[in-house]
Amino acid sequence: MLVPATEMLQKAVEGHYAVGAFNLNNLEWTKTILSTAQELNSPVILGVSEGAGKYMTGFKTVKAMVSAMMEAMNITVPVALHLDHGTYDACYECIKAGFSSIMFDGSHYPIEENLAKTTELVKIAHAMGLSIEAEVGAIGGEEDGVIGMGECADPDECKMISDLGIDFLAAGIGNIHGKYPANWQGLSFDTLAAIKAKIGDKPLVLHGGTGIPADQIRKAIDLGVAKINVNTECQLYFAEATRKYIEEGKDLQGKGYDPRKLLAPGVEGIHTIVAEKIRLFGSDGKA
Ligand code: 13P
Repeated sequence: MLVPATEMLQKAVEGHYAVGAFNLNNLEWTKTILSTAQELNSPVILGVSEGAGKYMTGFKTVKAMVSAMMEAMNITVPVALHLDHGTYDACYECIKAGFSSIMFDGSHYPIEENLAKTTELVKIAHAMGLSIEAEVGAIGGEEDGVIGMGECADPDECKMISDLGIDFLAAGIGNIHGKYPANWQGLSFDTLAAIKAKIGDKPLVLHGGTGIPADQIRKAIDLGVAKINVNTECQLYFAEATRKYIEEGKDLQGKGYDPRKLLAPGVEGIHTIVAEKIRLFGSDGKA
């Protein structure tokens, strides 16, 4: 059964570990993330961006696919189906589609507007039994070939948003989506500690999990991060394994062109990354 992410993240804060939020891109991703979480007896969050949702023909399709797969695969670990970086409209769509969790990303609005929209969505999400994440301090990434350095959120604004009753908070601490530039300064632990001091035990979310060194991940978890988002790293491993298969001419041998065979090395790549992250975050055996 799909569950809101609140309880699994509160347990993570108490137990000093984090739950991985892995983005879905297609059927292979969904199946592999679910089976890996089950194999390691770990709670898991399936993140769905608006773009990926659209690619899979809509949030309703994604919800139907995830529910049917969980039943067919006998998935018993807690799974949250979560909208990633949702607009106001997408939040409503996901509530209607039967998601168990949403993220409203109002970080690009002036703080007053972010507060007003988050307040409304907290009310509706909770009335419908969903958990809700909000964001302060935009978490950027590569735009037009330029990689931003990552903003740091204002701890006072974090407290204002946290006090609206959201279940977990994404705050920029120098993290960005996608690959980190060679001269990246690392996470700002001073910012993280200042935010934690303001918001207490509310679970914090670290976006841009790809490429953050393991020691920084462990320190972030020590300072209250309980949900870590990973997307690009699975994509990179998938692409690399698929390229190798084709470069070795395996698609030209026998029925190597069969998509089930052609995509198998990439799927193994996703499995490797998801398993590695679950162990690094410490959520294995915590289902
Ligand atoms: P990466 O693609 O950098 O792993 O970030 C994923 C993410 O934060 C999704 O919200």
